[in-house]
Amino acid sequence: MNNHSVDGLRGDILLVDDTPDNLRVLSAMLTHQRYEIRKALSGTRAIASVQADPPDLILLDIKMPEMDGYTVCQQLKADPKTREVPIIFISALDDALDKVKAFAVGGVDYITKPFQEIEVLARIEHQLRIQKLQRQLVTQNQELARSNRELEQFAYVVSHDLQQPLQSVTGFVKLIHLKYQDNLDDMVLDYLNRIHDAGNRMQRLIQDLLTYSKVGRQSQDLQPIDGALVLKQVLANVQGAINEKQVTLTADSLPTVMGNETQLIQLLQNLISNAIKFVAPGVTPQVNISVTKQGDRWQFGVHDNGIGIEPHNIEQIFEIFQRTQSAQDYPGTGIGLATCKKIVENHGGQIWVNSQPNRGTTVYFTLYAAGVSETPLQ
Ligand SMILES: Nc1ncnc2c1ncn2[C@@H]1O[C@H](COP(=O)(O)OP(=O)(O)OP(=O)(O)O)[C@@H](O)[C@H]1O
Ligand SMILES: [Mg+2]
Repeated sequence: MNNHSVDGLRGDILLVDDTPDNLRVLSAMLTHQRYEIRKALSGTRAIASVQADPPDLILLDIKMPEMDGYTVCQQLKADPKTREVPIIFISALDDALDKVKAFAVGGVDYITKPFQEIEVLARIEHQLRIQKLQRQLVTQNQELARSNRELEQFAYVVSHDLQQPLQSVTGFVKLIHLKYQDNLDDMVLDYLNRIHDAGNRMQRLIQDLLTYSKVGRQSQDLQPIDGALVLKQVLANVQGAINEKQVTLTADSLPTVMGNETQLIQLLQNLISNAIKFVAPGVTPQVNISVTKQGDRWQFGVHDNGIGIEPHNIEQIFEIFQRTQSAQDYPGTGIGLATCKKIVENHGGQIWVNSQPNRGTTVYFTLYAAGVSETPLQ
């Protein structure tokens, strides 16, 4: 598509009309306004012209022999190369203008003859402005997607490559401890312990980051996954915490959903870990997992009796590294829910939270039921 800002022209417009006089009038008017004008006397020529070089806008007569304006419009809209060019229909007052059809076939506006010059110009300017904004949006979206991919790649490479040197650090600390512990004074032993703990925390952070960046990289071939088996696996993984805190955990019987097994385990495990973790001191965690059918999806809820989340923090907690003030006393890096969000969205579902401070939190998410939609994503 042309960019006319350089040569001082305001836009490249194709005029399509089978009456040469009509073309002449419009063309004179628009050239006077510094638009670049092309003309076509038939639908076939119009299509050829647009395919050769898409203009910024088309003014299209409806009533033409051979091929009428609606058909021309339909054909242009069916071709990805010419689809985006906005089309304004022109019709004589005595023609039966089918406005509904004009929009249905993909027109953006219509003008009826005889027209007022000022009105035509306003409508053209309006469409060109929309067109320009749309192009900007598309470019910006592409740019955003690109930089997101780059960031993900960066997170992956960095976390992956950090693992090795970190393992050396923690490995040698262990070695020193093992070999020399009897010869070291308490202060050095304390320092070694601290290096060891910090190393472990860093290891976890790296693992979580890797998981986060991997979610977007895996291809999404979703399969029917038994929710009950996912829960069983998760409970096995968090058994230690459940025993230690004497958690009461209840659950509806979980359905089969369309998913990626590893990711669904990560999802549920993150949510259950949060539900167990964020309780006030001395409170026994009570966790309940509910499911309800909503059309072709299942809605899951992970409920807890924990410290809750202040309303003004609700928005941010799904962003990576975001933790609330009240979470400062609990371990964690703020990657869990960001990973959950990515997983759920990869599965074509939604995730959100309901919470009352000091009462408890429910994180809801939806997943496609198995057998309904094998490929929920395009
Ligand atoms: N069930 C919950 N109850 C109260 N606050 C919660 C709950 N789940 C999440 N939050 C809040 O949302 C923040 C983000 O959660 P997220 O799981 O991403 O991070 P984290 O648990 O702090 O760390 P990580 O999961 O990476 O170990 C938490 O730090 C906490 O402030
Ligand atoms: Mg968490």
